[in-house]
Amino acid sequence: MVVDSIRAAIARDAAATLLTRCASLANCTEKPGEILRTFLSRAMEDVHDRVRPWFETAGMTVSVDRAGNLRCTYPSVSGSDLLRLVIGSHLDTVPNAGAFDGVLGVLIGLALVEGLAGRKMPYAIEVIGFSDEEGTRFGVPFIGSRAVVNQLSDELLRTKDLQGVTVGKAMDGFASAHQDAVESLLAPDKAGYLEFHIEQGPALESRNLALGIVDAIVGQSRCQVVFRGRASHAGTTPMEHRRDALAGAAEWMNHVEQLASGFEGLVATVGQILAEPGAVNVIPGIASCSLDVRHSNDTVRDTAVKAMLKEANHIAAKRGLSIEANEYHTQPTVHLDSAMISIADTSVRNAGYASMHMTSGAGHDAMVIAPHMPTAMVFLRSPGGISHHPDESVLVEDVAAAIHTGLYFLDEFAFFLQKMESNPRA
Ligand code: GLV
Ligand code: MN
Ligand code: MN
Repeated sequence: MVVDSIRAAIARDAAATLLTRCASLANCTEKPGEILRTFLSRAMEDVHDRVRPWFETAGMTVSVDRAGNLRCTYPSVSGSDLLRLVIGSHLDTVPNAGAFDGVLGVLIGLALVEGLAGRKMPYAIEVIGFSDEEGTRFGVPFIGSRAVVNQLSDELLRTKDLQGVTVGKAMDGFASAHQDAVESLLAPDKAGYLEFHIEQGPALESRNLALGIVDAIVGQSRCQVVFRGRASHAGTTPMEHRRDALAGAAEWMNHVEQLASGFEGLVATVGQILAEPGAVNVIPGIASCSLDVRHSNDTVRDTAVKAMLKEANHIAAKRGLSIEANEYHTQPTVHLDSAMISIADTSVRNAGYASMHMTSGAGHDAMVIAPHMPTAMVFLRSPGGISHHPDESVLVEDVAAAIHTGLYFLDEFAFFLQKMESNPRA
């Protein structure tokens, strides 16, 4: 009881500090007036410069790897890092982001090590701040976490940003400008991965809960759909002579919305649209659209994507347009590890909180790491369910609940490893 009230007090203080730190990191941006940090940008390096002394003061060694991930290690009691708990989330953002998506989880990792106050665990702790989870720069998410589990495919490395720079070239440039950058690969043996993240939806708030435990993260598909028609004069081209690419795209977007609304649990978003040549008095000749589709059942998602792309072809044919449609990113639904989930359950209970189990509709680095090491995720309530928006927020008492839970998790993870060692079949 005494220990618990000490832990609760540590967590309360740490939560207040953490919110100040989030506010400070919100100033690291590529775009004045809003938060924007993309893969390998100067703003990401600004974040690394700001957090480095915090991690070092906590007794951690800090480096940045060749994929721009921040890597901070706290040694085990024996000095060996063969047994390791990785606590991670991302430091990049969407455009015009809030101050907590990703950053919060990295700083909770730091707060947990600070909470140990120099005490060493029988395992090493590595806190990772991933360099790209959102996919803002290249349209492809999880570049940072994919680098640590060796999943950077040739196709991914050839993907270009708006300036025509490929992922591979950007990473080579980063490595040659940062000769001290370390190897990205994470040895997957004997380790666990834990991620704290804001829920980004309304489920916890509607049940008046501070914390949730993630059982699964839904799969996602990202596609690019380009309608091509004919640009021509807006004043002189009669309506029946037009081949308006944007009007075709608009009809298709409407269909996407209707189709998604008719499938339980399916969500689909056209979040980017580029009309060319993009002038008031020119009929759009090209309309390029993104498509993001998610569902917890991969077959349902796959069927829906096929139906949406088929309808794009149908609308294009009807309107005399041509079309290119491709699904360039597919991430299957991932179920998190039952042993790690049970450690999270025990930790939440020991810290004196109730929680609920849930499926994450948002993508997270945890879904890339989970196939490679036992993974758990803890959600914190998102006031108003708002995220990917400057109004995104988190309650200080919920951050304290998460840190309090995390401190228990560190001990429970040690018990778990001990049990595994004495009875590897358990
Ligand atoms: C990341 O936040 C995503 O779910 O797209
Ligand atoms: Mn996000
Ligand atoms: Mn996130």
